Amino acid sequence: MILLALESSCDETAAAVVRDGRQVLSNLISSQVDLHAVYGGVVPELASRRHLEVINPLVEEALSTAGVNQRDLEGIVVTRGPGLVGALLVGVSFAKAYAYALNIPMIGVHHIEGHIQAIQLEKIVEYPFLGVAVSGGHTHLYRVDGIGRYQLLGRTVDDAAGEAFDKVAKMLGLGYPGGPIIDNLAAAGDDGGIIFPRPMLKKNNFDFSFSGMKTAVLNYLHRLEKPADDLRISQIACAFQTAVVDVITQKTLRAAEAENLDRIVVSGGVACNSGLRKRFAELTVSSGMDVFFPAPILCADNGAMLAVAGDYYLSRGFSSGLDLNAVSNWPLEQVRCDYK
Ligand code: KG4
Ligand code: ZN
Repeated sequence: MILLALESSCDETAAAVVRDGRQVLSNLISSQVDLHAVYGGVVPELASRRHLEVINPLVEEALSTAGVNQRDLEGIVVTRGPGLVGALLVGVSFAKAYAYALNIPMIGVHHIEGHIQAIQLEKIVEYPFLGVAVSGGHTHLYRVDGIGRYQLLGRTVDDAAGEAFDKVAKMLGLGYPGGPIIDNLAAAGDDGGIIFPRPMLKKNNFDFSFSGMKTAVLNYLHRLEKPADDLRISQIACAFQTAVVDVITQKTLRAAEAENLDRIVVSGGVACNSGLRKRFAELTVSSGMDVFFPAPILCADNGAMLAVAGDYYLSRGFSSGLDLNAVSNWPLEQVRCDYK
């Protein structure tokens, strides 16, 4: 089955063509980073308007890059939620109109299901595994028993990891989005002996808190006698990233052990982080767990990631009607019931 997959939940418009939920024929992303950078974060209305402008030409380009035409498409998969409602509605409305015009089925899928299953586009990872979703909106640990089969084990009680990266970068005057900038500084320097707290690490659960870490950085900056110079800023960035990586990796490992899982899949924008990848690789050696990271293009928001679940559902006869609506909040654990 050849599917068109569309993603517009936040600040990337993405269109992909995927065969059989496995073979990526094209995977194009139109980023809005420059549009939002001046505001230091995503402005929802601007995001929706930009999605509207680019989605049609992007889909045409995705088809021509894949070497297929509209008539070859057998279904459409689109992010239904969670995300910014106005942004989601652009993708959902486009998918509905396109599917109706071509008389093919369409299905709305969960953005985080896309992230977690993206790895299956590169290699077959057997279920069950521990799914770590780390992005701008999520820091969630799931037991994954298959497509549509998720059990929440732990989650952030406040900010998501990516959100904390972005906010700390803003405090340090580093620009937006902050994750990649902090990652580069941390990779090039060291923490200069600065240590930030690791919230919730001692707690006997698998939840996270990143808001306290962010406040610790702010307090550190306030205590400085003069404004931080470039060297100090890069040391703070490095110390912050080390603390985030420490908490994520340790809690993940504990959750995997508690669930008796020896496979871990890390996904979402923060899974691009080189420190996180390095630390997990070290833990793989010491713990004997297999840790999988999709390639960076499949970690950040993209269309192809949605086709794994989309193909599975459509080929089993599930599809969405023309009454499909976008949802800003949608617990991943619920998707199984939603497709029954
Ligand atoms: O999955 P994603 O592209 O969009 C959401 O679903 O949120 O994730 C975006 C987040 C942003 O907060 C961004 O700063 C973060 O992922 N990010 C990173 C890196 N690349 C992107 N965080 C840390 N290190 C990176 N290299
Ligand atoms: Zn995402």
